[in-house]
Amino acid sequence: MTKLALVTGGNKGIGFETVRQLAGQHIKVLLGARNEEEGKNAEKVLRGESLDVTFIKLDISNSQDIENAKTYIENEFGQLDILINNAAVFLDSAWFGNNVESVPMKTLRDTFDINYFGTVELTQALLPLVKKSDAGRIVNISSVSGSFGAHLDESHWLYQLKPYAYSASKTALNQFTVFLANALKETNIKVNAASPGWVKTSIGSDQAPLTTEEGAKTGVALALLDNNGPTGTFSQSGEVLPW
Ligand SMILES: NC(=O)c1ccc[n+]([C@@H]2O[C@H](COP(=O)([O-])OP(=O)(O)OC[C@H]3O[C@@H](n4cnc5c(N)ncnc54)[C@H](OP(=O)(O)O)[C@@H]3O)[C@@H](O)[C@H]2O)c1
Repeated sequence: MTKLALVTGGNKGIGFETVRQLAGQHIKVLLGARNEEEGKNAEKVLRGESLDVTFIKLDISNSQDIENAKTYIENEFGQLDILINNAAVFLDSAWFGNNVESVPMKTLRDTFDINYFGTVELTQALLPLVKKSDAGRIVNISSVSGSFGAHLDESHWLYQLKPYAYSASKTALNQFTVFLANALKETNIKVNAASPGWVKTSIGSDQAPLTTEEGAKTGVALALLDNNGPTGTFSQSGEVLPW
């Protein structure tokens, strides 16, 4: 049977490329996007490549959108095999430096609303549908910015980059990954966090060395894990990262 995947923030960047790579594996992919026009354009481009992609309007910080997505998937497909929580924002004023003493509460709250609360709310809503799959896979697109290990290690390339709101939201997402994997450890569902690396996108900037094609690979590999694959891990290109 054809598998069904949902990728949030699929209209551009790593999310768009993730949709493309999953659909290239003969998986039917729902391309979630908060902007209808951009979502439909992305769907059109990928359908033009003969890929089985369907846009769904999904702002992950909007509870009604989440409810609508759940109802649609339940009615049309009855289950969900792969959920890729990719959508996120970077709202800190800069990547460099440490803004923990001054980051506005609004920046912190707006970042958490999407990167953390929206992701958790969507995942909780869709979990009953993932449980109906015989091999459910949940992939949280995190970041090495969320790693305590990297931020504590003065020799790590990330040590000088401490945008607090974004980093803390990814740390919270990592904890969600660990707790959810633990809660589901007796099921067929695997829950893992992926770091895409530093990728050329709106969030990653033009300075980044990796293409979206390279950046999507870790999340796609975790989405395609077989039944012997790990759960509750944090990795980039197969290399385990410190939490
Ligand atoms: N690029 C990097 O170097 C890098 C490194 C580590 C981790 N990441 C992670 O990779 C993921 C993808 O980011 P990217 O680099 O591809 O950046 P991007 O091009 O800015 O893509 C972010 C995506 O998230 C969507 N989004 C934001 N808020 C949303 C919401 N409330 N509901 C639904 N979609 C929403 C955006 O939609 P709009 O177009 O409507 O804004 C866009 O589609 C993120 O989780 C990011 O934290 C990226």
